[in-house]
Amino acid sequence: MSDEQYEELQEVEQRPFDYGLLKRMLRYTIPYRKQLALATVVIAIGSILRLTEPYLLRTAIDLGITPGNMRVVNTVAILWLVFQLLGAGAEYVRIHILNRTGQNLLYDMRQELFTHLQWLSLRFYDGRPVGRIMARVTNDVETINDLINSGLVTIISQAVSLVGIVIILFVVNVRLALLAMLVVPGMAWVVVRLRPRMETGWRNVRKANSNINANLNETITGIRVSQAFCRENTNILSFEKLNNNYYDAFMGAIRAEVLIWPTVDVLGTVGSALVLWAGARMVLNDVITVGYVLAFTDYLFRFWEPISAISRVYSRVLSAMASAERIFEYLDTQPEILDAEGAQPLPPIKGQVTMENISFRYKEDDRWVLKDINFTIQPGQTVALVGPTGAGKTSIINLLMRFYDPQQGRVLIDGHDLAQVQLPSVRSQIALVLQESFLFSGTIADNIRYSRLDASQEDIERAAQAVQADRFIMKYADGYAHEVGERGSNISVGQRQLISFARALLADPRILILDEATSSVDSQTERAIQEAMHTLLEGRTTFIIAHRLSTIQRADTIFVIEDGRIVEQGRHEELLAMPEGRYAHLYQRQFASWEIQRQVGAAEAEGCRDIIVE
Ligand code: CTP
Ligand code: MG
Repeated sequence: MSDEQYEELQEVEQRPFDYGLLKRMLRYTIPYRKQLALATVVIAIGSILRLTEPYLLRTAIDLGITPGNMRVVNTVAILWLVFQLLGAGAEYVRIHILNRTGQNLLYDMRQELFTHLQWLSLRFYDGRPVGRIMARVTNDVETINDLINSGLVTIISQAVSLVGIVIILFVVNVRLALLAMLVVPGMAWVVVRLRPRMETGWRNVRKANSNINANLNETITGIRVSQAFCRENTNILSFEKLNNNYYDAFMGAIRAEVLIWPTVDVLGTVGSALVLWAGARMVLNDVITVGYVLAFTDYLFRFWEPISAISRVYSRVLSAMASAERIFEYLDTQPEILDAEGAQPLPPIKGQVTMENISFRYKEDDRWVLKDINFTIQPGQTVALVGPTGAGKTSIINLLMRFYDPQQGRVLIDGHDLAQVQLPSVRSQIALVLQESFLFSGTIADNIRYSRLDASQEDIERAAQAVQADRFIMKYADGYAHEVGERGSNISVGQRQLISFARALLADPRILILDEATSSVDSQTERAIQEAMHTLLEGRTTFIIAHRLSTIQRADTIFVIEDGRIVEQGRHEELLAMPEGRYAHLYQRQFASWEIQRQVGAAEAEGCRDIIVE
C-alpha cells in the first residue's frame, strides 16, 4: 500500500459539535438513567468533600494551632479522616456504577451494530474494507463508551469543583480573588493557542500508529507472497519509513505538550505568588488570618485543574461525535433486500426457475452486467452456465439467491415472484456452493452441519460420503472432529470444496447451485463426484457453473453467457452441431486439454484400481 492509500483509509477523527448527534448518543443511556443519576450525585458529593480540605486546614491553623487549642485540632483531624473515608466510599461506588453501566452500554451498542450488520445486504459489503467495519464495531463503540464513562465523571466533578472554588474564593476575600483572576487570561491564551497544537500532534501519532497497523496486517497476511517474490528487504524499508513517521509524530506531539504544562505551572505559580504576597500584607494589617491565606492559595491551585480537564473532555466529545456519526451511518443503512409488505412465505417448491426480462448492474451509473435475460427451467433439470470470466454467471446466481434485486425484470420460483415472498423461505430451499468455499473455524462436522443444525452424525457422514469427502476425512485420527482452522486454513483448497459440497447436499434443497464447485479438486475426484451426483441431483433443479466442459456435458440445458447475455442455449450435442457456434468454438479449444485430462483421469483411475487389486 502506498502512503496515499493509507491516508485514504484514515477516517475523520473529530466532528464539529452536533447537538442532534449528542442527543442520539445519550438515548443509549436512557435504560441506565437511574444508575447514571446515582453516579452523578456520588460524583458531586466526592467533589464537594474534596473542597472541604483547604477549609479544614484553615480551621486547624486559625482556631487550633495559633491559639493553642488542641481540641479544635483533634476535631479537625477526625473530620478530615471521616471526609476522606466518605470520599473513598464515593469513589468506590462511582467506579462500580460507571463501569457496570459503561459495559452494559457497550454491550447494547455492539450487539445492535452486529445484529444490524448481519442483515445488511451484500451491496453494503461490496468494496468496504473488512478492517474498517471491524474498527466501527470495536474502536468506535469504545470511544463512545469512554466518553460516557470517564467523560461524564470529568464534566460533572470538574464543573462542581470549578463553581465551588470560584464561589469560595470570592466569599473568602474579593480583593484576593480578583488578584488571582489576573493570570486567567494568560491561562486561557495557553489553553486556546497551544492545546490545538498538542492535539494535532497526538492525532498525527494515532494516524502513524494506524498506518503501522495496516502495514502489519497486509505484510503478515501476505507473507507467503512476499517471501516467494523476495520482497523482504523492500518490506523492511517501507516499514522503517512508517516507523520513522511514528517517531517523528510522537516527538512533535511531545514538543507541543512540553510547552503547555510548564507554562501553565509558571502562570499558576505567579498567580499564587501574587496572592501570597498580597495575603501576607493583609495578614500583617490584620485584615485576614494566616489560615485563610493558606486555604486561599490551596483553592487557587485547584482552580486550574477543572479548566484544563474540561477542555480536554471537550476534544474527547468531538472525537466521540465522529465515532457516533460512523456508527449511526451503519445503523441507518437499511438492508436493501427487504420483504415486501404482506410478503408470504414461499411454500415448499418443486424447483421451477424463471428469469423474466432481467437487466442488472451492481451500482447505478455502472455498466449493465446482465442484459435482458430470459429463461425457464423446469423442476429437476440441470442447467449449466458457461462463458468467459466476468461474463455474468455468478451474477445470475446472485439474483436467484436474491442477494441483489434486479433493476428490471423478475425472478420467479414455481411462479412466485421472489420480490413478493419472505426471504428466508426462499434461501432455505436453495443450497449454494460458492466459487470460493468458505469454512468457519470449528470441526469438519460443524462445517457440514452448518446448513442444517439438526442433522445427525449419520446424515453428515452420508453427505460426506456422497461427495467423496470421507476419503480424506477418514485419514485424520480425529476424523469428523478434525479442526479446519480459521477459514479452513488447515486443509487444502480442494478439501474445502468437498466439505462445502457436503454442506450443500446435507441441506437437501430443491434447488442446488454449484458455482465452480469442483474447480479445485482433481479430475478423478471430480468424476467420482459426478457419478455420485447423478443420483443425488435427481429431482433437484441444479445450476452448474463450470469452466471445465467435462462437468457440463450431461446438463439438460447449457446457457452460453457472454457479456451479460445468453448468446446460445441448448443441449451439448445441439450446441456442438452449430457450425459457427460459440459453444462449439469453446469446446474445440478446450477439447484438446479436456481429452488429455480425460485420459490422465482414466489412467489415474486405472492405476488406482491396480493398487486396490494388489
Ligand atoms: N461485478 C461488479 N460488482 C460485483 C461483482 C461483479 O461490478 N460485486 C462485475 C464484474 O466486474 C464482472 C461482472 O460484474 O465484470 C460479472 O461478474 P460475475 O457475474 O461474477 O462473472 P462470472 O461470469 O461469474 O465470472 P467468473 O467466471 O470469473 O466467476
Ligand atoms: Mg463467477
